[in-house]
Amino acid sequence: MFAFSPAAHADKPELYRDLVEAAQALTAGEADGVANMANLAALIWTFLPDLNWAGFYRLPAGSDELVLGPFIGKPACIRIALGTGVCGTAAATRTSQCVADVHAFPGHIACDANSRSELVVPVLRDGAVIAVIDLDSPSPARFDADDTAGIIALAKAIAPVI
Ligand code: SME
Repeated sequence: MFAFSPAAHADKPELYRDLVEAAQALTAGEADGVANMANLAALIWTFLPDLNWAGFYRLPAGSDELVLGPFIGKPACIRIALGTGVCGTAAATRTSQCVADVHAFPGHIACDANSRSELVVPVLRDGAVIAVIDLDSPSPARFDADDTAGIIALAKAIAPVI
């Protein structure tokens, strides 16, 4: 049994340091990327409050579409073209997207009508996008620069194991 129960944290940077450490411990020695993404989605869900969706979209080598990966939340759209929506924009530009109001994001894809804000961070391996981490919240402006930096650190840490 894995018992990752996040203790109280002084601030968000400390929370994300613990999350990254837990992610490394959880995936250590496991080569199956799907299993690792499934556990990482559950870990993110356990650590971060106020989410309604947390998970992965994968970018298969040579593809121009993201494909749904392991996640926690309501069933979601399966394929997202590069450059489309928040996830496709993050993947196409290789740039994190921290969206305070999803209704104001041109082309936002509404998988869960409860989502109000969203953070999407590309996962890079050898300079290429292999996936994105997608977090949705029912609260407007749920994510800030600390969340973005924390999920970027997580993406870097897990890139070799997904
Ligand atoms: N809102 C995303 C689609 C994925 S769902 O949030 C799970 C987007 O605009 O790309």
